Amino acid sequence: MKLVIANFKSNKNREDYENWISTFEKESSSLPATLNVVLAPSTVDLMLFSNHLLDHKLYPQTNLGVQDISPFPAGAYTGAVGSVNLVGFNVTHAIVGHSERRHYFHETYQDVANKVRECVAAKITPIVCVRKDDIVPQVAALEPSLLAQVVVAFEPVDHIGTGAADTLEDIIATKQLVQASFGKVPYIYGGSVDPHTDPNILHSPEIDGFLVGTASLDPQTFLSLLKLTA
Ligand code: PGA
Repeated sequence: MKLVIANFKSNKNREDYENWISTFEKESSSLPATLNVVLAPSTVDLMLFSNHLLDHKLYPQTNLGVQDISPFPAGAYTGAVGSVNLVGFNVTHAIVGHSERRHYFHETYQDVANKVRECVAAKITPIVCVRKDDIVPQVAALEPSLLAQVVVAFEPVDHIGTGAADTLEDIIATKQLVQASFGKVPYIYGGSVDPHTDPNILHSPEIDGFLVGTASLDPQTFLSLLKLTA
């Protein structure tokens, strides 16, 4: 079963999300049952998605994700949204260490490791995003007992938001690097995945799923991608 995560980043407001969900609801029931779809909206709109998921009108294997999570436990951390604040929303996955977080918010390997710890303690699956250069230092920062609990997303920055995905050869070669350090964890790819992506990438048994930014913003485009991926 392929894991496909829609990362809406900071693109949409409440009304945009309502429109997105209503289009997705109408067509998602026709999707084949071979996908685990995770929608990661802005944190302020988690309630909207959570209520729709409870209505069971969305594709049955649709789950809820967050784009980030606090590295801290419950406490005096003004502005932070941590696992304790997500209780009751049925969040199953958290994107951690996205290159945009590492770049714009100066997140360190230790920050990302702390986020993984918070996720695992709350039974939320962390999707750890790495470039090739992050693999070894990120593993060094992580508690060894937590390595087996993560999904790793290979996210080459040169291919994010560019419209040109990486090659299948490089994605598979990087999987060897990831699994040499993390162990045999699920391995997904992100970087300009869209309906025009090489079908050999979309169908490769070596790749356990995709992290999708731009192509998730339009529900029809995302539905097309899901159909091609299934
Ligand atoms: P993109 O973003 O699909 O727009 O390239 C991917 C990502 O940032 O994970």
